[in-house]
Amino acid sequence: MPSVYIKTYGCQMNERDSEAVAAQLVAKGYTLAASEHVADVVLLNTCSVRDNAEQTALNKMTSVIGLGRKERPGQIYGFMGCMAQSRGKELIDRLPDIDLVLGTQKFHRAAEYLDDLLAGKRDKIVDTAEEQGSEGTIREHLLNGNAKEKSVTAFVSIMQGCNQYCTFCIVPYTRGEERSRTISDIVAECRQLILQGVREITLLGQIVTSFGKRDIPLRDGKSAFVQLIEAVHEIEGLERIRFTSPHPKGYGDDLVEAYARLPKLVESAHLPVQSGSDRVLKLMHRGYTRERYVEIIRKLRAARPGIGITSDIIVGFPGETEADFEETLSLCREVEFDNAYLFKYSQRKDTPAAAMPDQLPEEVIEERHARLLELINEIGKRKYETFVGRKVQILVEGESRRNSARMSGRTRCNKIVLFDGGERHRGELMDLKVTRTGSFTLYGDPAIVNL
Ligand code: 5AD
Repeated sequence: MPSVYIKTYGCQMNERDSEAVAAQLVAKGYTLAASEHVADVVLLNTCSVRDNAEQTALNKMTSVIGLGRKERPGQIYGFMGCMAQSRGKELIDRLPDIDLVLGTQKFHRAAEYLDDLLAGKRDKIVDTAEEQGSEGTIREHLLNGNAKEKSVTAFVSIMQGCNQYCTFCIVPYTRGEERSRTISDIVAECRQLILQGVREITLLGQIVTSFGKRDIPLRDGKSAFVQLIEAVHEIEGLERIRFTSPHPKGYGDDLVEAYARLPKLVESAHLPVQSGSDRVLKLMHRGYTRERYVEIIRKLRAARPGIGITSDIIVGFPGETEADFEETLSLCREVEFDNAYLFKYSQRKDTPAAAMPDQLPEEVIEERHARLLELINEIGKRKYETFVGRKVQILVEGESRRNSARMSGRTRCNKIVLFDGGERHRGELMDLKVTRTGSFTLYGDPAIVNL
């Protein structure tokens, strides 16, 4: 049977989509290849959120094809996901060796299209159409993926698309309108995962907090998303619930209250703020003010002291002045994020911000990025150091990526903890004492937990 190599760029939704494609292909008898050098089919699942993500995937495909055409005639090449969706056939005009361009509502068609391409029944396939019901098609899992042992964490896609239309963002155009699965479908998938040994589930969507907004009415003042968390929370054997990514507008009191009430909902929130300046937030069409954002954080910390809070921030949005940027610095000092991902503003096709006046020169963006990064690192370091000497509970996920003699797990507040351990620890909820910190990493020792 043919072998497939899938490489994924971008967010956790993309990782999840690739996993579902891989699982569907495996179910059809395909094998998963360890690299492009030994594969009959090479699929790149792409990201469009910034220009350099697109360029990286294009360069990768160019080099894969360059070598493949010499050494593996007949190798099949495909782009999937966001760049496939936004560029469509243009990708074949640019790279004529591409056989398949598969949009974001078509992942479940990968097997059928590859069968046709490999059998020589069709020559080129471009499918980027909308498809009703596609939100319910990302459901297959590969729980033992490449690892020798079972996964203890799993991601579940609960919705697709985005209706927020932030002016910088390409996602509404690549992922389409918001469409949610049903609560019963999602719960059934989670139950199945728990039966297979999973202990932590992360609910995924472009804006998870908007789950079911149009289809599921409020119940006792609770949003559809909170109703979903409650339903998942009831599953016996499930230890931890996470979700990503939310939008601040989704943090109503019902969700804050859920953190206080539902013990499996871990004390961790990744809450993208994007900017600390109200003027820029408005230009971005984010739908909240700095004051509202800070209020949400305050309420979350009151509901769950010690909650881990991370964020996304864009540096150099068009028209961002030095004063606006200083507002972002001061917001970071005020909120004290455990960590934040910084993004240099990148003009995206067809987005309103790309046509705004005062696009900033690269040097200004670079310089502000460096200043903000220094501040984020300094705050993060301080926050991580407060863990030294403390007892934490981790769920052990597997070997550390950098050092296979170490095992890696996460605290409930989403900090990675490394310790000297072995396979026997995988899947365990363990208490250990933090002994030292690294860069956004903690090191722990299970032996001295009671000292
Ligand atoms: N330029 C830079 N960063 C962006 N993001 C989204 N669009 C852009 C863009 N055009 C960032 C946002 C988002 C994260 C996933 O990517 O911070 O939260």
